[in-house]
Amino acid sequence: MQEEALQAIQAAPDLESLQAVKTRYVGKSGLVTRELGTLGKLPPEERKARGAEINAVRAAIDAALTEREAALKRAALDARLASEAIDVTLPGLGLPSGGPHLISRILTDLQDIYAGLGYTVVEGNEVEDDQHNFDALNIPWFHPARDLWDTFWLEDGRLLRTHTSPMQVRYMVDHTPPLKIVVPGKVYRYEATDATHESMFHQLEGLVVGERVSMADLKGTIAEMARGLFGPRTQVRFQPSYYPFTEPGADFSVWWENPRGESKWLELGGCGMVHPNVFRAVDDLREAQGQPRVYEGKTGFAFGLGPERIAMLKYGIPDIRYFYANDPKVLAQFRGPLG
Ligand code: PHE
Repeated sequence: MQEEALQAIQAAPDLESLQAVKTRYVGKSGLVTRELGTLGKLPPEERKARGAEINAVRAAIDAALTEREAALKRAALDARLASEAIDVTLPGLGLPSGGPHLISRILTDLQDIYAGLGYTVVEGNEVEDDQHNFDALNIPWFHPARDLWDTFWLEDGRLLRTHTSPMQVRYMVDHTPPLKIVVPGKVYRYEATDATHESMFHQLEGLVVGERVSMADLKGTIAEMARGLFGPRTQVRFQPSYYPFTEPGADFSVWWENPRGESKWLELGGCGMVHPNVFRAVDDLREAQGQPRVYEGKTGFAFGLGPERIAMLKYGIPDIRYFYANDPKVLAQFRGPLG
């Protein structure tokens, strides 16, 4: 019986079957237990030896049970640990991470440069009206220069701003000089899209108004910005240009030596002294609101530039449409530190 029991114990594949073996041999009515119950019927002189024999069998079975139970428990634990194990040598899955868009980063850099020069950053609405986008900027409806800004008109007669310049007007109507502001934001043009034209792009507008603000101040400011953007040795060039809201008006370029060893004049934006007609229109709007006329006789300068253009020139991006096609392969190249 002992041999049989020990074999059954070794063969039990799990704790449940081991329990069955235990019940069969040493349970309350198990085979060994029943054998002990027969001792009373034996003649007294045989009892002791028989009792010792049965107890030895029981002890052997108990020991085997304990040992097998421990082994089965250990095996079960090992199996569970193995099923929970991870292979830390497998290649990772790499969670893709997002980040600010290159154009946002350039606009942020520009705002930092101007904040350092004491400018206030303000934003306007993308839906504008004719008065602020054109009329008050000295571009009446019959003015041929309106063609410079191909316009998306809304059904209610309003429009998508074609430049950030309307914020010059809005800010001056609400504030008195002296003032220094920059206006980052989106602008819209009704144009066929190609490598250098998008129907939506960004501008950063600047406006300074005070006493005896001069063209020299304007040039110094643009030079300071260009050096902040392209490095301390950057040269700036101004060429006469025409904007209805400036007199005189100019376009500015930087002489920039890029890391690939090329250098050339890169046109970055437009600028000029604020046209007296703009100050007059602002005072008219103020007067209509019951505010005093405070701009006539003041001087100021304004400028506007496009961050897309800066990005294309600086990083050799050949097509403006890359910025908004949302291809992660393009955008991810501009996540790290920018040169
Ligand atoms: N608003 C002009 C444009 O969109 C840029 C500009 C701004 C020019 C301020 C002169 C002064 O082209």
